[in-house]
Amino acid sequence: MARYEAVQARLREAPATWLITGVAGFIGSNLLETLLKLDQQVVGLDNFATGHRRNLEEVERLVTPEQWARFTFIEGDIREPADCARVCTGVDYVLHQAALGSVPRSLEDPLTTNAANIDGFLNMLVAARDAGVKRFVYAASSSTYGDHPDLPKVEEKIGNPLSPYAVTKLVNELYARVFARCYDFRTIGLRYFNIFGRRQDPNGAYAAVIPKWFAGLIQGETVYINGDGETSRDFCYIDNCVQANLLAATVEEDEATDQVYNVAYGERTSLNELFGLVRDRVAARHPGAAAAEPVYRDFRPGDVRHSLADIGKARRLLGYEPSHSLARGLDEAAEWYLDNLG
Ligand SMILES: NC(=O)c1ccc[n+]([C@@H]2O[C@H](COP(=O)([O-])OP(=O)(O)OC[C@H]3O[C@@H](n4cnc5c(N)ncnc54)[C@H](O)[C@@H]3O)[C@@H](O)[C@H]2O)c1
Repeated sequence: MARYEAVQARLREAPATWLITGVAGFIGSNLLETLLKLDQQVVGLDNFATGHRRNLEEVERLVTPEQWARFTFIEGDIREPADCARVCTGVDYVLHQAALGSVPRSLEDPLTTNAANIDGFLNMLVAARDAGVKRFVYAASSSTYGDHPDLPKVEEKIGNPLSPYAVTKLVNELYARVFARCYDFRTIGLRYFNIFGRRQDPNGAYAAVIPKWFAGLIQGETVYINGDGETSRDFCYIDNCVQANLLAATVEEDEATDQVYNVAYGERTSLNELFGLVRDRVAARHPGAAAAEPVYRDFRPGDVRHSLADIGKARRLLGYEPSHSLARGLDEAAEWYLDNLG
């Protein structure tokens, strides 16, 4: 945490201007909350494809009126080059989060995913390069490991993508690398591994497992496990993800840029174990949930069986020290879901 604390102190002393794309989404709104609490100037872009105004309204309630006044929201679309150029003006650091997430969504509608995740990404790269921003940090994905069998995943060993979504995130990395080579425009990609926490959307067909299960158990609905439940993931709490973004934006060493990093906790948990952890936390406030059992159904196409990150590179080059284990993260997430959905 030493590096992260130093970065936060430095930012408080000398505030910077940040652009967060996808600011009304789960990760984007959490980045916004942290940056405003550090008295930064923030520009946010979103088209509300999957994000919500209520996320921005919640952040407004969590910061002071002076901090909120440092935020400029622009409703716009990364598929429009003019929108991208407009939001990059005068920006020091870009945290590019806007994209269409979800493997199943990309299988059903690869064209729309491609437009947001590849065309939109390229528009943002060009706009950020032309505006001369200091650093472009972007949301990459653990899906880039595809069918590579090794565990834990190390950044330089990737396999073949298993879904259109995974292709888009791989292409982002390829473009980022080419922009370093051709234009000396340096970026950092953060390969997120199953990020979870407050404001992650529990609704809709493409919701992630943790919010979906919190909502299902709180509301007394059937909770499903795709497959036999022994599928495993490296679940990573949002505060760790926010930390990685701020470290990546501000790291000064040359060798740390033009790189991709795993952002995870570094432990693997099966869906069966996860179900028990979520159920215990819901049952603490809704005792009826204690007896809930999951219903098993087919494996989901495009999903990898196991996922676990080696986070050594981020520790070494960025000073990343995840503050929240899965258990601690679930405690905090549970409080939010129980307060907001209960
Ligand atoms: N949550 C995870 O576990 C995870 C894992 C790997 C990668 N990621 C990546 O992290 C990023 C943020 O994900 P999230 O979980 O916060 O999802 P999210 O859906 O909550 O946030 C994405 C935001 O981007 C916005 N957006 C989408 N298309 C846009 C467009 N064309 N123009 C402007 N805004 C647009 C959405 O409205 C939404 O607010 C995404 O790039 C996602 O692929 C997330």
